[in-house]
Amino acid sequence: MLDLGAGPGTSFLAANEIFPDIQKATLLESDQRWLDLGRKLASAGLRRSVDPQWSRTDLRSGFPAQPHDLVVMSYVLGELSAADFDNTLRQAWNSTREFLVIIEPGTPPGFGVVNRARSFLISTRAHLLAPCPHCNECPMAAAGDWCHFSQRVQRTAEHRQIKGGSLGYEDEKFSYLIASRSALAAAKARIVRHPRKHTGFLHLNLCTPAGLETRTVTKSQKPAYKLARQAEWGDSWDL
Ligand SMILES: C[S@@+](CC[C@H](N)C(=O)[O-])C[C@H]1O[C@@H](n2cnc3c(N)ncnc32)[C@H](O)[C@@H]1O
Repeated sequence: MLDLGAGPGTSFLAANEIFPDIQKATLLESDQRWLDLGRKLASAGLRRSVDPQWSRTDLRSGFPAQPHDLVVMSYVLGELSAADFDNTLRQAWNSTREFLVIIEPGTPPGFGVVNRARSFLISTRAHLLAPCPHCNECPMAAAGDWCHFSQRVQRTAEHRQIKGGSLGYEDEKFSYLIASRSALAAAKARIVRHPRKHTGFLHLNLCTPAGLETRTVTKSQKPAYKLARQAEWGDSWDL
C-alpha cells in the first residue's frame, strides 16, 4: 500500500484492518509533526501486519513511482493547488499496480475534486470500479448535485469533548472513487441516497449507465423486494 499525504497513517491503519495481510506499506507525508504522531500511534500497540515505511515527502516535487497494489489519497487532493493537481494525480496513477482510491469530504467542493480526478482518470483509460457504474459524464454533476456517501463513526468521550458535540456518534459524509488497472466486474447501478421505505414498497435512487433514475420495488417483486429492504445508501444494485 502507498498512502499519499498519509497524515498520522489513518488510511493505512484502516486498510490494515480490512486487509490484514498487507506486506509492505509506504506512507508519504510532508509535515514532520504528522510523521512523528504517526510513528507514535504505530508504536502504541495498534494492530498492524507490517511496520510502514514513513518518508517526509512533498508530493508536489515528485515521488518515486514504485508500483504498489493499492494507492490511497485520502483528503489530500483537495489541499493541492489546481496547478499541482493533474501532475500529482498522474504520478499517483503511475504508481498504481491495481487500485487507486481517492477520498474527499462529502461536500460539493469535495465532490468537485473527486469529479475532476474522475475525468482525468477516464482520459488515461483507467477503469472505474466504484462508486460509478459507468464512465459517461457524471449525471450527479450534470444535475448540480454531488455524489457522496455516509459512514457512522462512534465518538468516544474525548472525541465529543474535542468536537464540542453531545451525540455518541457522527455521520461522516465522504465522496470517493476507486480506479483500477484491469477491467473488473463493476456495479450495474449504485444506490445514491438512503432508500425510502414505505409499507409494501420502496424507492431506490440509482446512478445507472443511462443516468439518474428512481426505481420503485414493490412487495409483489419478491426476490428484488427482499434485497431492496436490506439495501443501503452506497450499495450496488443489479438492474
Ligand atoms: C486532511 S489530512 C489527511 C490525512 C490522511 N490521509 C487522512 O485521511 O486522515 C491531509 C494531509 O495531506 C498532507 N499534505 C498536503 N499537501 C501535501 C503535499 N504537497 N505533500 C505531502 N503531503 C501533503 C497534509 O500534511 C496532511 O497530513
